[in-house]
Amino acid sequence: METPSRCSSFEEYNETAEWLLTRTKIRPIVAIICGSGLGGLADRLQDYVSFKYEEIPRFPTSTVPGHAGKLVFGKLEGHDCVCMQGRFHFYEGYSIHTVSYPVRVFSLLGVKTLIVTNAAGGLNDSYSVGDIMIIKDHINMPGFAGQNPLCGPNDERFGVRFPCMSDAYDRELRSKFRSTAEAMGVTQFLQEGVYCMLAGPSYETIAECKFLQTMGADSVGMSTVPEVLVARHCGLRVLGLSLITNKVITDYNSEEKANHEEVLRTTQERSNLLQDLVCGFLTM
Ligand SMILES: *[C@@H]1O[C@H](CO)[C@@H](O)[C@H](O)[C@H]1NC(C)=O
Ligand SMILES: *[C@@H]1O[C@H](CO)[C@@H](O)[C@H](O)[C@H]1NC(C)=O
Repeated sequence: METPSRCSSFEEYNETAEWLLTRTKIRPIVAIICGSGLGGLADRLQDYVSFKYEEIPRFPTSTVPGHAGKLVFGKLEGHDCVCMQGRFHFYEGYSIHTVSYPVRVFSLLGVKTLIVTNAAGGLNDSYSVGDIMIIKDHINMPGFAGQNPLCGPNDERFGVRFPCMSDAYDRELRSKFRSTAEAMGVTQFLQEGVYCMLAGPSYETIAECKFLQTMGADSVGMSTVPEVLVARHCGLRVLGLSLITNKVITDYNSEEKANHEEVLRTTQERSNLLQDLVCGFLTM
């Protein structure tokens, strides 16, 4: 396991990027970070070459046995892409800097657009399990508690000291994704809203859910925000997508029990739709 809260140097990111560039001819312009249950996108890459995280110099390694992640380079709808199959979560014990390490590597590889996906709980009453939420904005709760991947010395080669975040989720990409959903006739599953990141790993209490709703959050999860902050810092455009896999409980008298099998089935069905949408988005 890596040392906690250590910022990596430009030379370390460079070493990782150079190692990868000598091992593949693919020059990705799009990077995709696949959320839980959404790794199937990486399987759609053509002419692919993949690297286990543990063989990539300086790359963080997975803490979960049997869940060894992979970086997959290949073509998706004719576009050179790199796909993270398995992401790093803060709750696994990684520092917030380590969680977002791959994003700066992507930037050095020449990536211009980052697509991030996650599985999230629905806070907005009008959301249904299986909905796909385009992330319009985020709330960085770990940031409120002093955990921001941009803390530490700023390297101007990546970006400015105080990056703007009011345009974190690219308006044009969001609109293009909506058009893709329209063209595919699946807008009934589409939402657009605010994603809130909590550190995890415990799920939120009822009081916390009510608090998050009051703050204006529509979905809640334990990822994505660190990667987006780092991506915006180094000038990548971002498209973020949440698959709503469950609805949070906000009623103390609720007898409601999540039907886990149904959730899994819906997730499975909708994860394919999400993958179709991402492919369609790249073609447009
Ligand atoms: C790595 O650093 C070297 C030396 O500064 C530079 O020539 C090279 O372009 C860098 N590679 C990447 C992928 O940024
Ligand atoms: C829930 O989502 C709907 C549809 O996007 C939106 O109109 C509404 O403002 C959201 N509700 C809250 C409380 O934010």
